Amino acid sequence: MIVNDKLYQTVWIEGTSVFMIQQNQLPFNFEIHECKTYFDTCMAITDMTIRGAGAIGAAAGYAMAQAFLQFRGNDKAVKVREARQDIENTRPTARNLFYAVEKVYHAGLISAESAVVEAQKIAQKDSADSKRIGELGSDLFKKRANILTHCNAGWLAFVDYGTALAPIYLAAKQGKDVFVYVDETRPRNQGGKLTAWELHNNHIPHVIIPDNAAATLMSQGKIDLVIVGADRIAANGDVANKIGTLGRAILANEYNIPFYVAAPTSTVDIECATGKEIPIEERDQEEILYQSGIDRNGNPVQVLVCSPGSKALNLAFDVTPAKYITGIITEKGIIKAHHQSIKKLMEENQDS
Ligand code: MRU
Repeated sequence: MIVNDKLYQTVWIEGTSVFMIQQNQLPFNFEIHECKTYFDTCMAITDMTIRGAGAIGAAAGYAMAQAFLQFRGNDKAVKVREARQDIENTRPTARNLFYAVEKVYHAGLISAESAVVEAQKIAQKDSADSKRIGELGSDLFKKRANILTHCNAGWLAFVDYGTALAPIYLAAKQGKDVFVYVDETRPRNQGGKLTAWELHNNHIPHVIIPDNAAATLMSQGKIDLVIVGADRIAANGDVANKIGTLGRAILANEYNIPFYVAAPTSTVDIECATGKEIPIEERDQEEILYQSGIDRNGNPVQVLVCSPGSKALNLAFDVTPAKYITGIITEKGIIKAHHQSIKKLMEENQDS
């Protein structure tokens, strides 16, 4: 993706350092954050300097490679196993993280260089898969389409292109008249901050809406299609995604609006029989109680926006049952969200 006339990916490795776009500073500042050790990369995943399923996966793969590069000597195997634990403890929901760590760990048992190569392959595949999802998904849009999206499943959430936003970028390039309603996505506002920033930079017409506006817009016939990303897809087609997705899916069903999930096969967890087994992250209540931004002079501010002394419950994801999902756009094709289609998809994936 081009930012300030320069081509960027969300995360990459150079030597022993991992570099990433500092997403906590967006949309106000564009900065690159350097992680010198695997533990720095873990911290960046935990504090959401980098976030979004694919980007977390790539970062976790690089962190695993960093651990192999970092440790030497007799206790290397023990240290690397501890590092793997640390990486896997950063965030629990996105399947891509565990997928990447597993692959890079096994490559690293051959050599540290193999670990780096494997991590790079995972990042490249994430980008290529997203591009393909864009190509397949853009066919779903008619010449004019009003689309609702939730959270950020754009290029910032992956290594490049994104999933839910990739079809939108391509449809706009193809000359289609697309308009995007962007859910603000409290509490961290990935929609209002990140999706809106991406769309603005790409000159895609859009408007940010509060999270509670979707029902009204749908009831007024203003939304033709909903497209969201995914953090983990269970074997039966249930989908974990940013909290609030379930509500959009139920509404879309009520108003007969197609509801699509866009995600690469690295997000599918065939070991998870249903969505009930997907671990749901609970984050710090401060993310709800305080909001951050800049003041009118451009200075960073953090303000308390809730009743002082009250507690908040911050579940970061919800699970949308397969029955509400019109289709899942993967790099291998658009499939039905049900058990047989997912099983077939993953079997074909193993063969390729
Ligand atoms: O908590 P985040 O920002 O890492 O959440 C992940 C997401 O960005 C969303 O759930 C997204 O819609 C799907 S993953 C790209």
